[in-house]
Amino acid sequence: MSVNWDQQYHEEQTPWDKGAPAPPLLEWFEAHPLEIQGRVFVPGCGLGHDVRAIATRPEVTEVIGFDISPRAIDLASSLPRVGVEYYETGDLFALGAHHLAAYDWAWEHTCFCAIPIDLREAYVEAMHSALKPGGCLLGAFYLNPYDDEHQPGDGPPHGSTLDELIDRFTASEKFSLSESYIPTRSYPGREGLEQVLRLVRN
Ligand SMILES: C[S@@+](CC[C@H](N)C(=O)[O-])C[C@H]1O[C@@H](n2cnc3c(N)ncnc32)[C@H](O)[C@@H]1O
Repeated sequence: MSVNWDQQYHEEQTPWDKGAPAPPLLEWFEAHPLEIQGRVFVPGCGLGHDVRAIATRPEVTEVIGFDISPRAIDLASSLPRVGVEYYETGDLFALGAHHLAAYDWAWEHTCFCAIPIDLREAYVEAMHSALKPGGCLLGAFYLNPYDDEHQPGDGPPHGSTLDELIDRFTASEKFSLSESYIPTRSYPGREGLEQVLRLVRN
């Protein structure tokens, strides 16, 4: 099932938007206050709550929130600026040259689970191409998003397993795993269903 993301934003059908940064990101900041630094890429940023949380970090010089939905980017851009954050409309699977090897860090949150499963290898390739060698992809990956009303095959969010994630990112040697844990802080309803991974771009 393919989703018209822009239409979802126009129609305000955005149940994933909680109006606040992802709790696993805030938890990670508490444990690693100064580690995220330089230029940061946020694919599938939606309204940019995570972008603005990252922009307030002391060692971050610039954050780019990137989304395929022009409406999401318009809404994100209309919110008050908190630091050096920018937004751009675009397709993660057709990144412009200015994004290549351009970032020290990337933050993933509910973009990987939103894309069609057959684009997951392309996602790994896109993140590898956006990060500088030695750069980090930090993500809260939604492992099991299913409930009574939403079952596998219904459309996004699509689940994954920890084994699949590690295999996808590390088998091709594009990334090495440096951190993996279940966050203790999550949005209500997602407790225990997410996994934080920190992957270093080889
Ligand atoms: C489930 S939403 C999550 C948004 C945001 N991370 C949040 O938590 O509110 C997935 C987002 O990915 C964006 N997206 C989907 N496919 C994309 C692509 N190929 N390139 C860039 N963004 C994409 C959608 O427009 C949407 O904003």
